[in-house]
Amino acid sequence: MSADVPENIAKLRRGAVPLRHIAIIMDGNGRWAQRRLMPRTAGHRAGVKSVRRVIEACGQRGVEALTLFAFSSENWRRPRKEVGTLMDLFFTALDDEARNLHENKVQLRVIGERSAFGERLREKIADVEALTANNTGLKLVIAANYGGRWDIARAARRIAERVRAGELEPADIDEAVVGAEMCLADLPEPDLFIRTGGEQRISNFLLWQLTYTELYFTPVLWPDFNEKHLDEAIAAFTRRQRRFGHTGEQVEKLENA
Ligand code: IPE
Ligand code: IPE
Ligand code: MG
Repeated sequence: MSADVPENIAKLRRGAVPLRHIAIIMDGNGRWAQRRLMPRTAGHRAGVKSVRRVIEACGQRGVEALTLFAFSSENWRRPRKEVGTLMDLFFTALDDEARNLHENKVQLRVIGERSAFGERLREKIADVEALTANNTGLKLVIAANYGGRWDIARAARRIAERVRAGELEPADIDEAVVGAEMCLADLPEPDLFIRTGGEQRISNFLLWQLTYTELYFTPVLWPDFNEKHLDEAIAAFTRRQRRFGHTGEQVEKLENA
């Protein structure tokens, strides 16, 4: 195989569905609640049930990695009470689910600037990460106080430090060097991106990592999102032809080789 054939196209050749990593923007909690004349925070509570459902479904379907956007670096702009509820829910969900995740061999990690969180939450995150670190099942990533631009700036900072330490010359900085310093560098890039809630935007989620990801938008609000909706998204994904810059004819040839 020539070195410039991306790994996912290489997989197509073997006839496997190359769906290793799903990334989801879980949106629509507030509107779900408002339609029921309930406070927005009730929508966030209902959304936790969808999180549990989708983690389990991804595990059952043999997905290797699942990244969930739980709180963006811009979500601090929300009313203080809503931010407080979201932080409390994050803590409670980690506390309630740690054992269950561990028993199901889920490996959990959190990406984002966690220094902004309270100490109790930071400790809880570290505890659950440590508990599940050696698990071999689904790799679950929670993006919390995460921003795609934050991720890129952090990579730049880390590279600058390596240059200062004399490990690296500026001329050596290429896409591979930058990519290696980004969050999730050890995972395959997301194959499928899902955004619930009807908006069609990235909202500062994984900017670097979504370069060739298939984008799927659904009007279903996150608290209503279930296994059936997940399977619809996966079915839509399998109907796409990923070309990675090649022509359709080239890809077909590779598939049939
Ligand atoms: C997503 O739902 C959850 C977070 C951003 C934390 P929203 O709260 O954004 O719900 P809508 O978009 O207002 O309906
Ligand atoms: C994106 O949703 C962030 C999360 C789901 C955590 P938002 O609701 O914050 O996005 P915008 O503000 O509508 O773009
Ligand atoms: Mg929203």
